[in-house]
Amino acid sequence: MTQLERASFGSKLGVILATAGSAVGLGNVWRFPYMAGEYGGAAFIVIYVGCVLLFGIPCMVSEFIIGRHAASNTARAYRSLAGGTPWAAIGYFGVFTGLLITSYYAVVAGWCLQYIAASLLGQLHGSPEFFAEYFATFEKDPFKPVFWTVAIFLITHYVIIHGVRGGIEKASKLLMPALFVLLLIVVVSACLLPGAFEGVKFLFKPDFSKVGGDVFLGALGQSFYSLSIGMGCLCTYASYFSRQTNLMKSAVQIGVLDTSVAILAGLMIFPAAFSVGINPDSGPSLVFITLPNVFQQAFASLPVVGYVVGFAFYALLALAAITSLISLHEVTTAFIHEEMHTTRKRAAWTVTILCSVIGAVCSLSLGKLDFLKIGDRSLFDFFDFITGQVMLPVGGFFTCLFVGWYLPHKMVRDEFSNWGTLRGKLFHTYLFCIKFVCPICILMIFLHQFGWI
Ligand code: PHE
Repeated sequence: MTQLERASFGSKLGVILATAGSAVGLGNVWRFPYMAGEYGGAAFIVIYVGCVLLFGIPCMVSEFIIGRHAASNTARAYRSLAGGTPWAAIGYFGVFTGLLITSYYAVVAGWCLQYIAASLLGQLHGSPEFFAEYFATFEKDPFKPVFWTVAIFLITHYVIIHGVRGGIEKASKLLMPALFVLLLIVVVSACLLPGAFEGVKFLFKPDFSKVGGDVFLGALGQSFYSLSIGMGCLCTYASYFSRQTNLMKSAVQIGVLDTSVAILAGLMIFPAAFSVGINPDSGPSLVFITLPNVFQQAFASLPVVGYVVGFAFYALLALAAITSLISLHEVTTAFIHEEMHTTRKRAAWTVTILCSVIGAVCSLSLGKLDFLKIGDRSLFDFFDFITGQVMLPVGGFFTCLFVGWYLPHKMVRDEFSNWGTLRGKLFHTYLFCIKFVCPICILMIFLHQFGWI
């Protein structure tokens, strides 16, 4: 396919919303608030913002440069720029990482659909034990989670087959504003609850006594996952950018949007939890066990409002997950479509079917197929661990080295063409980050994770 025939986003807004759609996801809504609470509230937020600026944005720009320059799927983009050297492997590695994330991410997105249905049917009320029991039974059910996983894939598939402009861009322009409206509804309802201010204080009161090496590394890892860096999602989307798209400006805008959603997510979870005296817990249990209980108790005098807020919350979580899933699906779809010379529709079906099967097996590894274990982790947990903690940092690390040390500086500099007088300064700052700061930081997260530093 020539560059001229290649699909592209139709507007600047489309570029920002689609890419922010990839970034804003489950990582923002449950992981960020928990980490902020755990690591000293505002102190963590300040460090996190520093990480996004110093490390997230340069990495994002690097993927954009590769994608836009090569105007092809991730594997081909790295291959064509690598010129026969082993650097080409980074692209294939990214596509493979994407395939694994797509499969298990859809399972969690499917859980949101179950909780949307349950809130609509008014099923989410009972004792705190009831919520724990409800989630445990649902998660282990041999049919329901698989059904919702396939359903979420069919929704994603529907968007993907309508192409870049008619599918991804159109869906992002519709879903992202809807997500913001729902987010504001839940934030306002949560902050109006009696005693909610304690939660706001918990999130914004800087507690520097908790700041240690762990906090820096936690913030780095989170910025990485949250901005979808390290697996070719941003590279694939950038291959649909036009020459007029200002890469640095877009990266900053996406970073700001993603961070705002993460902070707003904290502002909906902590005030609500504190208002009913529930200690915010971590991970899936926070979103699927603690929160339904929080909504029920917080709106005990007006249960209907509780159902509406619960519905709005799970709907926004599902929207955030779907827009991320679209970007994940697109990485492999573009790869199969261009590398195996098949139609986009066929490529999309291949990904949908393959990932539905892997997703179903992942989901069943939490219940019926619980013998599917790697080490002491279920297959589901293993996928989450190996992709988020190992494969993304590895992909990001090599991308930085590739752009910083291998690609000709002139080529990289040309991608900064629409920055006028700022161009030189910005380029050198960027290059310094990408050559030294980012690879060293990523290496540190990685080594720390395995207890080597
Ligand atoms: N950024 C997404 C989130 O915050 C997750 C994701 C990671 C999506 C990698 C695509 C690629 O949930």
